[in-house]
Amino acid sequence: MINYTINRHVAILSWNMTSSPMNVMNDDSTPAFAAALQRAYDDVDVKGIIVTSEKNEFIAGADLKMILRNNEKDPAEMLKISAELNRIFRAIETSGKPAVAAINGTALGGGYEACLACHHRIALDHPKAIIGLPEVTLGLLPGGGGTQRLPRMLGMEAALPLLLEGKRVSPAEALALGLVDELAVSREELMEKAFAWIDAHPEPLQPWDERDRKTGQIVGKENFKVPGGGVQSTTGARVFSAGTAMLMEKTHGNYPAPLAIMSCVYEGLQVNIDRALVIEARYFVQVARSKVAKGLIQTMFLGLNEANKGIRRPKDIPATDVKKVGILGAGMMGSGIAYAAASVGIDVVLKDVSLEAAEKGKDYSRTVFKKAIERGKATQEKAEAALNLIKPTADAEDLRGCDLIIEAVFENRALKAQVTQEAEPMLAEQGIFASNTSTLPISGLALASAKPANFIGLHFFSPVDKMQLVEVIRGKQTSAYALAFALDFVKKIRKTPIVVNDSRGFYTSRVFTMYTAESMELLKEGINPVLIENAGKAAGMPVGPLAVTDEVSLDLIHKISGQSIKDGVLSEDDTAYQIGGKFVELGRLGKKSKAGFYEYPPDGKKFLWPGLAELFPLAETQPSVDEIKKRLFYRQVLETVRCFEEGVIQTQLDADIGSILAWGFPAYTGGALSFVDYVGIANFVQEADRLADAYGERFRPTPRLREMAKQGVSYFKQTN
Ligand code: NAI
Repeated sequence: MINYTINRHVAILSWNMTSSPMNVMNDDSTPAFAAALQRAYDDVDVKGIIVTSEKNEFIAGADLKMILRNNEKDPAEMLKISAELNRIFRAIETSGKPAVAAINGTALGGGYEACLACHHRIALDHPKAIIGLPEVTLGLLPGGGGTQRLPRMLGMEAALPLLLEGKRVSPAEALALGLVDELAVSREELMEKAFAWIDAHPEPLQPWDERDRKTGQIVGKENFKVPGGGVQSTTGARVFSAGTAMLMEKTHGNYPAPLAIMSCVYEGLQVNIDRALVIEARYFVQVARSKVAKGLIQTMFLGLNEANKGIRRPKDIPATDVKKVGILGAGMMGSGIAYAAASVGIDVVLKDVSLEAAEKGKDYSRTVFKKAIERGKATQEKAEAALNLIKPTADAEDLRGCDLIIEAVFENRALKAQVTQEAEPMLAEQGIFASNTSTLPISGLALASAKPANFIGLHFFSPVDKMQLVEVIRGKQTSAYALAFALDFVKKIRKTPIVVNDSRGFYTSRVFTMYTAESMELLKEGINPVLIENAGKAAGMPVGPLAVTDEVSLDLIHKISGQSIKDGVLSEDDTAYQIGGKFVELGRLGKKSKAGFYEYPPDGKKFLWPGLAELFPLAETQPSVDEIKKRLFYRQVLETVRCFEEGVIQTQLDADIGSILAWGFPAYTGGALSFVDYVGIANFVQEADRLADAYGERFRPTPRLREMAKQGVSYFKQTN
């Protein structure tokens, strides 16, 4: 697991875990690492230590499955585990022998913290390598000394953003930021530089350490001067007062880890490193046991990885590969999909009604690439190669031989049927036809197809180049082959899929609509719109519900609910339909008409439309922010539960990931279905009943949910 060799009197500890594809720190590897280190300390012939890896990456971090298993452990037990890790890392810097991290690839979290405990860090300048402390993004904090060593090394101002944002950087950026000391261009040079550093520094001492005069032992320095000023300096005052306020504004107190990181730095920097590590361990245990960390690790790490690897792909279908894709409609969505496909080397035929319109669609890719080049995220050659793959056209003949055709023409059934019939015969033998419709049921659209088994929904989100999710929709007749094919394509363009069954609004639009719909119920009841918007944001939604309604546009919402009324699934009294109608009458369609629930003055500083006060007179008593938050949440979650029970959504993972990536459902809850577990199922049912009694049957829990609550069954255990 950790290969131990000696070369030129230097012990080389090279990580190479066979039990996992990446090197991770877990119950097996960490003790093995400790034992190898001890062997080096004890061997008098060993004058220095190099920590490196035989894999392509260095160490990817702590094993998150292990952290999840520990989530419900006794805190005292967890504290012991943390203390042991700190002992191991602390020994590296206090053994008296020089230790160099030869970072041959990605070093994240605990992996990078091991580097911080070494006296010197050299990174291989590999294009795929990333370095950083991303713990905070999973609700954790660096618990292997990261919150203490990084600010002691870089100063608080430089270290705090890295700790609080969990930024991951390239080796070159790491050098510029001071996260590593040197770069190497090859593995050979990496090792040579490590040997050279050891030769030149036989008795290294970390800046925060000193030798005890009596015993000669290396101990934490009292009164260590933090570069750039300590906690009590003017820098400290600025960093902590402004920083905490900013943090609260950003997280609304929903994420405990960033605040815990601030506390670790604040408290830890006032004492010596040994005591500081004890402080960090206490905070680490606190956040690692939190529900937030559990939800984030489960959904945003383990779950996302599974989704990206294709957990929903039918296993028995041989791998497929799209080499040429046809896109019908070079509008906002079509041009974005063209960009995504060309970026990964797929030939794209981009068709619109005229060559000019298709060219305009291709211009979109030109613009996105230009920006990427400016930001150093793409090279000129890569951009040109991708642009050369996009063929704009108005001629259906050019679609001949496409493995996949995606239509993204106007949202109109007849038009979609017409383009399907025109383009489908051009498909390659085993080709698939997909629709990017946002509202029209796939099974209905498939009626226009000669091969409905090969017809599927691929619902992208706008803007396509930024939105990671694709909602893959199975129509009644869609085959397992078409599903596997679609998922292979989504993987190839590096997006994350969820798989849903055909239904009105599919999954994402159906549940997201509940957020806006409930805000209109609140308006109608005379709840202050400022309160409504603030509650949405305080809950952790990216945008307040009225603002987002303006963005979607009130006429669209009115049109969609009008269709539902026509189809007999919604009543004319529906609040969103009524309010939508009123606003359409007033010509206040939303952001696009510069008037909706908000006013949009030319200076860009939008504000709530004062006319709302007249339309919706304020009720005498106003509810608490918490009560509104609850209504906004429960409405979405109950609809998710219904989607799950109706089979629109089939796994908890799809529900959770879809909610977070599609409409920004707050990730700290684990997602729209995990929310039930986040608040506890019994509590959820009780609260939903209370809300139903107070505000209407839409909040009533389903019988199955009630049954599950009685039995104390959690969603997670049921479906995974
Ligand atoms: P858009 O209006 O920007 O683009 C539609 C394009 O289709 C236009 O360029 C039009 O010239 C072209 N077109 C019309 N008839 C055509 C034909 N016979 N052959 C080829 N091209 C034709 O519309 P947008 O926003 O890109 O939407 C397209 C589809 O994607 C719609 O079904 C929409 O519901 C869906 N969608 C839209 C999202 C959004 O946020 N805008 C999100 C997800 C799906």
